[in-house]
Amino acid sequence: MRYVSVFGENNILECVFNVQMSDGPTEQLKKFVFTSKCNNRGEPQEETLEIIIPELLQGSYSFYTWPSAPVLAWFLWEKRAELPGRRVLEIGSGTALPGIVAAKCGARVTLSDSATLPKTLQHIKRSCHLNNLVVDRDIEVIGLTWGLFFDNLESVIPVDLILGSDCFYDPSVFEDLIVTVSFILENSINARFLCTYQERSSDWSIEHLLVRWNLQCQIHNISKLGASAGIDLFELTGDHTILLLEISRKT
Ligand SMILES: C[S@@+](CC[C@H](N)C(=O)[O-])C[C@H]1O[C@@H](n2cnc3c(N)ncnc32)[C@H](O)[C@@H]1O
Repeated sequence: MRYVSVFGENNILECVFNVQMSDGPTEQLKKFVFTSKCNNRGEPQEETLEIIIPELLQGSYSFYTWPSAPVLAWFLWEKRAELPGRRVLEIGSGTALPGIVAAKCGARVTLSDSATLPKTLQHIKRSCHLNNLVVDRDIEVIGLTWGLFFDNLESVIPVDLILGSDCFYDPSVFEDLIVTVSFILENSINARFLCTYQERSSDWSIEHLLVRWNLQCQIHNISKLGASAGIDLFELTGDHTILLLEISRKT
């Protein structure tokens, strides 16, 4: 393995290393740094969390950390006082930045991605390993394909929180995703689905699906996200329009 520092990027993405594996594709390691001037009890005390995320330089959606992921991860970091002991399921985890932040902040986390993508599930385990989270002890990793109802879905419910970063990226699977979320929320009292949505086309909408599956949605104002730590929102979102949605059962 050879580590090459490529650049220091900004206040949250501190640096990127290329790792040339002797027996596989080139891996890129990104270090994300979460900082706060207060501890999770709100007392003045600096806190820092560093997360290493591996990416593979080959074409698959799941091996890259999408711009939505740091947004959701930072939101969780700011709410970390609420996380210890919470049962959290991340769907479509990909490189799993939000779920790993939640686990590091004390939540009981299960990471998941499509059961048809064993290499992605393996890659999620590598993300865990690089952050000193032992799979099956500190964190769980399962195959969970949207719209399919297997035993492993039953095994994770009830949950307190579902996370999803940039899962609404292909309209052909929007309903499968929402059906899965609706099923989990129906079986998890007071749970909610916190997800980041990158606007890619004004023609796309999930509103009719939320109505069909008896769900409601609230949009969080993220204009001040990161501000207390001196992070510019642009550093989190880049040029993209990213919404933070909270979806729950209609009461
Ligand atoms: C755009 S990527 C986002 C990855 C990661 N959450 C992020 O924000 O960096 C979408 C993710 O959804 C997963 N995915 C796509 N279709 C899926 C399905 N039918 N069931 C479960 N996961 C799926 C992909 O494998 C991929 O990891």
